[in-house]
Amino acid sequence: MTKAIQVQKLQKSYKQLQVLNDVNFEVENGSIFALLGSNGAGKTTIVKILTTLLKQDGGTATVNGFDIASKPEKVRQSISLTGQFAAVDEILTGRENIIMIAKLRHLSNPRQIADDLLKRFGLTDAADRRVSTYSGGMHRRLDIAMSLVGTPQLIFLDEPTTGLDPEARLEVWKIIKELADSGTTVLLTTQYLEEAEQLADQIAILHEGKIIANGTLAELKQQFPPAKLEYIEKQPTLEEIFLAIIGKKEDH
Ligand SMILES: Nc1ncnc2c1ncn2[C@@H]1O[C@H](COP(=O)(O)OP(=O)(O)OP(=O)(O)O)[C@@H](O)[C@H]1O
Ligand SMILES: [Mg+2]
Repeated sequence: MTKAIQVQKLQKSYKQLQVLNDVNFEVENGSIFALLGSNGAGKTTIVKILTTLLKQDGGTATVNGFDIASKPEKVRQSISLTGQFAAVDEILTGRENIIMIAKLRHLSNPRQIADDLLKRFGLTDAADRRVSTYSGGMHRRLDIAMSLVGTPQLIFLDEPTTGLDPEARLEVWKIIKELADSGTTVLLTTQYLEEAEQLADQIAILHEGKIIANGTLAELKQQFPPAKLEYIEKQPTLEEIFLAIIGKKEDH
C-alpha cells in the first residue's frame, strides 16, 4: 500500500538562508505523525511544500501517492490544511464559515455538512454566533472542522494548539485522536513535546535542516536515553529526549 506521505531529499532555501537540507521521512496511512522542531526550524516550510503552497528547490515528495511537483491539483484534492494562523472569517457565524467552505468545494448539501460538523465539534449552540465572539478553543475547533469539509484522507495541522489553554488543548487532542481513529492520516507540527507524546504514532525531530530523529516514542526512548536518567527511576520524557538530541542543556 502506498504511504500517505513520502519525502526524499527535500531542500529549500529562502535566498541565502537554507532552511531544509535533505529532509527525508514517510508517514503511514491512518497514522498521526508529529513533526517537532524549535521556532524557525522549518516546520511550516515543510507543510507549505507538501500542501503545494510553496515549491521545493530540490528533492521529491508524494502525498497520497501523487507527486507534489507534477500532480499538485491531485494533491490538493486529497488533503486539507489547517494553517498556523486561523483561517476563519470573524464576521461570519460558525455555521456560515462551514457552509462557505462546502460551497467553495462544490459539495451538495452544505447545510447538512455544517450541521454534522458543528455537532461533532461541540459548536451547535454557538453555531449562529459571529466567530468574533468565540473563545480561542472554539476558534481552533471551528478551524479544524472547516478543514474536514469534504472528508479529506489526509489533514495537515500546523501547530493546532498553540496559544490554547490546557482545557482547550485537551479538546483539540481529543478531536485529533478521533480523526485518526476514523482513518484520517494526520500530520501535525508542534513545539509542545507533550502533544507529540500524547498523540503521535510517529515522531520526527527537525533540526538544522534535517530530520535528526524519527520513530515511535518507545523507539526514541531506546535510541536516545539521556545518560543522567539511567540512575533514576523515571522514564525520560520526550522533552528530555528532545533536548538531549538537539544538544541543549536544560536550564534548571
Ligand atoms: N517567505 C520567507 N522568506 C524568508 N525567510 C523565510 C520565509 N518563510 C520562512 N522563512 C524563514 O525560514 C525559517 C523557517 O521558517 P518556518 O516558518 O518554516 O519555521 P517553523 O519551524 O514553522 O517555525 P515556528 O515554530 O516559529 O512556526 C525561519 O528562519 C524563517 O524566518
Ligand atoms: Mg511554523
